[in-house]
Amino acid sequence: MNSANDTHADAARQASAENAIQRVLVLEMVRVTEAAAIAAARLIGRGDEKAADAAAVAAMRKAFDNLYIDGTVVIGEGERDEAPMLYIGEKVGMGKGPKIDIALDPLEGTTITAKAGPNALAVLAAAEQGCLLNAPDTYMDKIAVGPGYPEGIIDLAKSPTENVKAVADAKGCDPSQINVCVLDRPRHAELIAELRALGCGVVLIGDGDVAGVIAVTDEETTVDLYMGQGGAPEGVLAAAALRCVGGQFNGRLVFRNEDEKARARKWGITDFDRIYKLEDLAKGDCIFAATGVTSGSLLDGVKRRRKPTGEVYMTTESVVMRASSGTVRWIRGEHRIA
Ligand code: FBP
Repeated sequence: MNSANDTHADAARQASAENAIQRVLVLEMVRVTEAAAIAAARLIGRGDEKAADAAAVAAMRKAFDNLYIDGTVVIGEGERDEAPMLYIGEKVGMGKGPKIDIALDPLEGTTITAKAGPNALAVLAAAEQGCLLNAPDTYMDKIAVGPGYPEGIIDLAKSPTENVKAVADAKGCDPSQINVCVLDRPRHAELIAELRALGCGVVLIGDGDVAGVIAVTDEETTVDLYMGQGGAPEGVLAAAALRCVGGQFNGRLVFRNEDEKARARKWGITDFDRIYKLEDLAKGDCIFAATGVTSGSLLDGVKRRRKPTGEVYMTTESVVMRASSGTVRWIRGEHRIA
């Protein structure tokens, strides 16, 4: 018969085994984003968004096959009838091991890649089952700020001016010294005008708001705030990253029609005006991994290099972070070309 001590020891072993699985997974996730980035990189500047995306999806899908996880895609390439691979609900991994939910974007920045612009990423977030919001493929109003501010300093219910002033007060500076990253879209004309009227620096990006949101956590970018409307799935991915490195995020789904509302209802969303905070989008322990496809504020892109021996190889730069430990790893990979 097991003594209480044995039972304790078993529980401790089990907990440590689960932990070990998570720790191993952190590095495994980078293999997956590296594979997608390398595949997409072959199509940088080729003007074909679809081909670049398809290459990244196929490579990411294949890389998952080697992972000892019972994974489910909760944010992916679309619904089953729309996407041949990495659709929402698709099982990935060996089907054994920990049950993991995965939010992914094999190529965040399809247009960027097609035009060889900056900041395209292969990106994913992984968490225990039920910990990532199953966000529908709608838009999301977003606001984000980096770490070190009082909780609740940003609030989507308030105006851009009020949010900028709150951050400026906390920083002890004038609103004109605040830099805000915004997607360059006609729908943001009013927002941009309001920010410029305050004297703010507006950092306009053409695409890629996962990197845009993460920029608020990086002192080198001098971006204080992220504001504006982008994809909801990208909002969940960015929230997972902020859970790991700190910062605050508010997101509110934006529905353009009844069909989008119906999709949201399918995922259990009934409060269409809800403001989601970090923990509502990505809770519990989670991992965020990204590999640069093209170089940008977060990561270097994939590069083709030649050794003095003549051997050609690819280099990648990736970042992987984990919420429970707060560890952030920057990983440079060299990959032989088959
Ligand atoms: P894709 O990789 O799907 O092209 O997304 C790029 C992106 O810029 C996202 O980062 C952003 O959330 C979204 O598009 C914004 O959507 P839209 O281009 O419709 O404004």
